[in-house]
Amino acid sequence: MTEKNADSNNMGIFSCITTPLLVGLLLYGLNKTFGKTIKNWLFASFWKRAMIEYHSTMREMKKSHFDSMQRQKSADVDLRKKSVLRILEIGAGPGANFEFFPKNSKLMVVEPNAFFEPLFFENENKYPDIQMDKFIVSNAEDMKEVEDNSVDIVVSTLVLCSVTSVEQTLKEVHRVLAPGGKFYYWEHVHDKPETWLCLIQSILSPVWCFLFDGCNLNRSIDQTVLGCKVFSQVEQKRFNIPLKKGIWGIIRVHVMGQATK
Ligand SMILES: C[S@@+](CC[C@H](N)C(=O)[O-])C[C@H]1O[C@@H](n2cnc3c(N)ncnc32)[C@H](O)[C@@H]1O
Ligand SMILES: *[C@@H]1O[C@H](CO)[C@@H](O)[C@H](O)[C@H]1NC(C)=O
Repeated sequence: MTEKNADSNNMGIFSCITTPLLVGLLLYGLNKTFGKTIKNWLFASFWKRAMIEYHSTMREMKKSHFDSMQRQKSADVDLRKKSVLRILEIGAGPGANFEFFPKNSKLMVVEPNAFFEPLFFENENKYPDIQMDKFIVSNAEDMKEVEDNSVDIVVSTLVLCSVTSVEQTLKEVHRVLAPGGKFYYWEHVHDKPETWLCLIQSILSPVWCFLFDGCNLNRSIDQTVLGCKVFSQVEQKRFNIPLKKGIWGIIRVHVMGQATK
């Protein structure tokens, strides 16, 4: 073997190992960067359609859930005089709750999926009585940009199923709420043990989580709210939504509640 041949043989072995490695790394990198982007885009388009049916069915029930907000007063003396409430909505998505917020509310949003932003503002334009404060692209578990004791109301609808940590999110919600402030939540939950639905939810949970942007079917959010012991008062109740067909049947058990700081 001449020296030149040995060299090219070594190169051959070298590239046999490095080429797949580089391709692998590239694909991994692309998936890491764009996989999340594609999933976010897909989910935003999917939820835009799904929510039309959900929200038109649930409108009246949601209205009564949020009704007491009309009587809530701001902890800030100046704002109270002007009847302004500071609302923070976590995971607002395309904006499903504007119609329930009192007139003159000042709204801040924390939402990690930036693909919802254009839709959110399109909907927001229909509610000129609500003053838009900030749309923060971030997770609810870590709301650095929101100061302690700075909002009167926090709202979450169908979000705690998707956060990485419910406990951490509740701590953050409690931190940003002013004393006397209220957390309004409306979430789907794990059915009570020993029911068929509970079992089905447990089995489907991993696949569902993958398909629907990290949504967990198996969370007993009501128990976590009580168990975390950060709120001074919790009022909540479980109920079944009137939608039964297809995917709605699987998430039909819900909890609605108000937790006070
Ligand atoms: C099922 S959608 C509900 C959207 C809207 N709240 C509604 O009721 O129609 C779940 C929302 O939670 C958001 N989300 C997911 N993980 C989150 C997190 N860690 N913090 C805040 N929001 C999150 C998603 O981007 C999405 O907008
Ligand atoms: C819920 O399901 C997920 C998988 O989707 C699993 O990792 C988790 O441990 C389950 N949680 C509970 C409370 O059973």
